[in-house]
Amino acid sequence: MLAAYSIHVRYAIKSMLLIVVAKLEGIKIMAHPGLKDGPIYLDYNATTPVDPAVVDAMLPYLSTYFGNPSSTHAYAQPTRIAMATAREQVAQLLGCSAEEIIFTSCGSESNALAIRGAALANRFHGNHIITQVTEHPAVINVCKALTRLHGFRVTYLPVDKFGRINPAELEAAIEEQTTLISIMYANNETGTMQPISELADIARRHRVLLHTDASQVVGKVPIDVQHLGVDFLTVTGHKFYAPKGIGALYVRRGLQLEPLLYGGGQETGLRAGTENIAFMVAMARRPYRHVKS
Ligand SMILES: Cc1ncc(COP(=O)(O)O)c(C=O)c1O
Repeated sequence: MLAAYSIHVRYAIKSMLLIVVAKLEGIKIMAHPGLKDGPIYLDYNATTPVDPAVVDAMLPYLSTYFGNPSSTHAYAQPTRIAMATAREQVAQLLGCSAEEIIFTSCGSESNALAIRGAALANRFHGNHIITQVTEHPAVINVCKALTRLHGFRVTYLPVDKFGRINPAELEAAIEEQTTLISIMYANNETGTMQPISELADIARRHRVLLHTDASQVVGKVPIDVQHLGVDFLTVTGHKFYAPKGIGALYVRRGLQLEPLLYGGGQETGLRAGTENIAFMVAMARRPYRHVKS
């Protein structure tokens, strides 16, 4: 029964089948340099090793192409093109357009930008948020901070024995003052997947925004944000063979967010700071190959 809901169980079964097929076909499986001669690594939802092909893809943006993409001279050209390509590739992975992708430094930042950003941008419409008890601390602690610093009320929905929330309970929890729902797509401990498109239907019917933390899903199973119907979706690169320190947030076109960082106009004003081109290239590289294959 758990296998029906758990992305981790399904992914482990799929990986084992691939290894068996490779062995039968006589395909040699190369050990990652970081895992060679070490104990068997079973903590891929904590983090993944960086794919050597990803390292190759990002190296030119550390060793050679250094220009600030916002500059107006020729040195900006290669990094500007690399950033646009990476954004396009991440957008293809999620089924959205490139302008709807905001690069961040990690999944925690994407969650904070979505939840704090949407709550504050819509505070004149209401001060109530709904989430659930098994969210990652990167969601729970943002909600707690919104209560502590800005007086938001937060409903923490319970989960059943499989770790799933009941869509009817979500609908019953929506109030006049509710502006945002944040429910993770897959849990980092159990792999339990929530019925996000069903929850998105409910949110849309009540004109409430829906954010999902898809940190444990992107790069493992195909995602289409249009089909899912979510408004915001969190991505983090180090769960799918990119380095730690790069993430993204899908923001449906036209939605307003209060930024976390103020400064230059990078990332359409939603995330100030000179861009980390090498890591953007790294994050885009792996899932693009994965999806194409
Ligand atoms: C479900 C979930 N959300 C958010 C995060 C935070 O991601 P990051 O480490 O990139 O900040 C993690 C990472 O452990 C996670 O598993």
